[in-house]
Amino acid sequence: MRSGSLRAPLAAVEGLVAAMTVEEKILLLEGVESWNTNAIPRLGIPSLLVTDGPHGVRKVRSNSGAFALTDTEHSTAFPTAATVANSWDPENARLIGRAIGRESTERGVDVLLAPGVNIKRNPLCGRNFEYYSEDPLVSGEFGAAFVSGVESEGVATSVKHLAANSNEDFRFVGDSLVDERALREIYLPAFERVVTRAKPSTVMCAYNAINGTFSSDNRALLTGILREEWGFDGVVVTDWGATHDRVASINAGCELDMPGQVEHNRAQIRAGLLDGRISHDTLDQAVTRVLRLVDRCAGADRPKPSVDEEAHAALARDIAIDAAVLLANDGTLPLDASGSQLLVVGEMFEKMRFQGAGSSLINPPNVVTPRDAFDDRGVSYRYERGYRSLAAEPDADLERAAIRAARRGETALFFGGLGDLEESEGFDRQTMTLGRAQRSLLRGLLDAGARVVLVLFAGAPLEVPFAGELAAVLDMYLPGMRGGDAAAALLFGEANPSGKLTESWTTSADTASSAADYDRDRISQYYESIYVGYRFYDKAATPLQYPFGYGLSYTSFAYSDLRVIVVGERVEASFTVRNTGDRAGAEAVQLYVRNNAGPVFKAEKELRAFDKVRLAPRESRAVTLHFALGDLAYWDIREHGWVLENGEYAVLIAASVADVRLSASFRVTQGRAPASPYSAAVDAAYDMPPAAIPAAFAELLGAPIPRSSRSRRLTLETRLSDARRSLTGRIMHAIVLSRVRKDYAAALAMPDSLERDTRVKNMHFLVRMMPFNSLRSMAMSSGGKLPYAVAAGLADIAAFHPIRGVRRMLAARAAETANGEDS
Ligand code: BGC
Repeated sequence: MRSGSLRAPLAAVEGLVAAMTVEEKILLLEGVESWNTNAIPRLGIPSLLVTDGPHGVRKVRSNSGAFALTDTEHSTAFPTAATVANSWDPENARLIGRAIGRESTERGVDVLLAPGVNIKRNPLCGRNFEYYSEDPLVSGEFGAAFVSGVESEGVATSVKHLAANSNEDFRFVGDSLVDERALREIYLPAFERVVTRAKPSTVMCAYNAINGTFSSDNRALLTGILREEWGFDGVVVTDWGATHDRVASINAGCELDMPGQVEHNRAQIRAGLLDGRISHDTLDQAVTRVLRLVDRCAGADRPKPSVDEEAHAALARDIAIDAAVLLANDGTLPLDASGSQLLVVGEMFEKMRFQGAGSSLINPPNVVTPRDAFDDRGVSYRYERGYRSLAAEPDADLERAAIRAARRGETALFFGGLGDLEESEGFDRQTMTLGRAQRSLLRGLLDAGARVVLVLFAGAPLEVPFAGELAAVLDMYLPGMRGGDAAAALLFGEANPSGKLTESWTTSADTASSAADYDRDRISQYYESIYVGYRFYDKAATPLQYPFGYGLSYTSFAYSDLRVIVVGERVEASFTVRNTGDRAGAEAVQLYVRNNAGPVFKAEKELRAFDKVRLAPRESRAVTLHFALGDLAYWDIREHGWVLENGEYAVLIAASVADVRLSASFRVTQGRAPASPYSAAVDAAYDMPPAAIPAAFAELLGAPIPRSSRSRRLTLETRLSDARRSLTGRIMHAIVLSRVRKDYAAALAMPDSLERDTRVKNMHFLVRMMPFNSLRSMAMSSGGKLPYAVAAGLADIAAFHPIRGVRRMLAARAAETANGEDS
């Protein structure tokens, strides 16, 4: 898509800015045709090509037609972020980043829209498969490693979505109310770590507002924190259609409006320049930043690397192996590949779910399913499909046949998990349960007396049914295109499971740390404050299915000889890990710090360092983990800064947050005497993690809780799904959905193939996500197809101002024609 390369070197960027007209500057600050920045051929400024990641390169082939989004070039589908994090080895993220960087360069991609480092606030978030963890250290370490890998290949990254972007159902209109301390300790540190350590070229701001200000317009966030505190010197890109007020966003430090082509936004900049709300200096600063990005990406002619596709596929497989989590095993696993015939049940055996849906959807050249991998190994099995992933209800015939095949005492491998219709970007899950058809089938197999090994494919925690009766549970998460081979390698003992969970598995969504206010409303009260994930469950002693950091192995490990020393600003913990078994294996060792029991409310313990130790049979290894004393500081709301409290802390070396193996205490004396910055009411409400929204939350937040403005009428900010109660809303909803429903039906009617599956996934994502759009978000992301003035006019008509509405549309139309605009 490039129309030439930037001829001016960096030093000449200022000269270029001086040579540009205001209209050229405005064009440079927005995208065109969904995936490009504007070129300015007169000055030799090329266009940049941006594409989605984070689990491969999603380069769109054609930008029109029914299946525009799925018509993408082939690229390696790596395990998704949630999967990779379970490997507890950030090197895996770096290697994936490097491979994706090479594939990007080969395809002429300049900016990869990845990684996603949002914190998993709730297990129901449809996009959790695309995020690393509920813990900021894990998210930050993996995000930083990924960025280093991609950028080492000369490709820019875009760390997303800054910030507090925790649900999908309200993604376009939501407002996350987060107290200052939770923002600093939970929701921002992963971004900070990535920005300060890996220096990504761009950051993507989120759709949602934070405490009333949309991220795109949030100067405190995009300039105060991101640039002034963290030293970010790249470009802030909007999420697709996230712009709210273009004058505010330019002043906030948000440079690139994507996907762009919104005349309303251009007109806002022109007006802002005219009446002084935007200074020419501010505009030039934004333009300079974008030009620097263009210079970095396109200035040097990057040689096209040759991509070794098979090596990338092998990497995807190895990382899927390193990340899979063995949740339970009564000794049934590993199985003997050459043993007697196995009963294999479940459609995911032949139609493995290996990635999530939405903007991260990758079109891999091929996929190795478990069935392919069993066949390659010559495993003797009888296969029964058992259920259909796309059907909510059990299929009586398939179920009966599978149960009839099960025999008492015989091992049955059950391949299941979350289907594409249950988990995706664009909408949240309603429950953590496994689908009805799979539950019913599992029950039948167990009742028939089979020893059931459950192999799961899912991007998030689910309620494992009948867990106490299962022989083993191996969770592959979403393992990428070679996931079937990885599963077979683990099931048959060619490899030893070593993944551990980087998110807590609650017994149900009702006991999740944010359950009292998740997906209820446009306004999300992050009432649990710092008690997110294990920080909540550990302190509240919540019964869980599986705790953070948990995972089994075919071997076992012993920990000994902990020594903790404080050297200057650094705390070092040395200990020995021994593989006590006869199989090679790897152990994810975790260092938590038990906090000083002072008056300031804190989590019981927090992860401060981790490593993955790979050991031969019977091998011992000395391990040293370290962290900075400053990591123990909490964010003090009176000081608006980090405060280290004096007192006694304990280093806990653990196999999971619930399995502490060694501990040693140390005293901090370099800090301050502990004193709570909060009122007695807040201290009392947060001494323990709150199970409901405490009355003191508003005080903790420092602002009254706004009343929800969830309108039932069609306004610019109403979700179409909410506006259906009004006539105009219903009409708009029907218009928007009719097209995607038709495309969905066409995808469903295709013959069975990988291509059909990919299209079904994608169209289902759109069918579910579109109703959560508002008129504004549609106008902002439509690339000019729904002009903002038309959207605003529709809102006027819905508010019973038809004349004003029509006038507005006509005036805008005339202005656009005068400007020679696209829409
Ligand atoms: C997603 C982003 C993605 C962008 C472009 C948005 O809807 O939230 O993560 O990069 O679309 O596809």
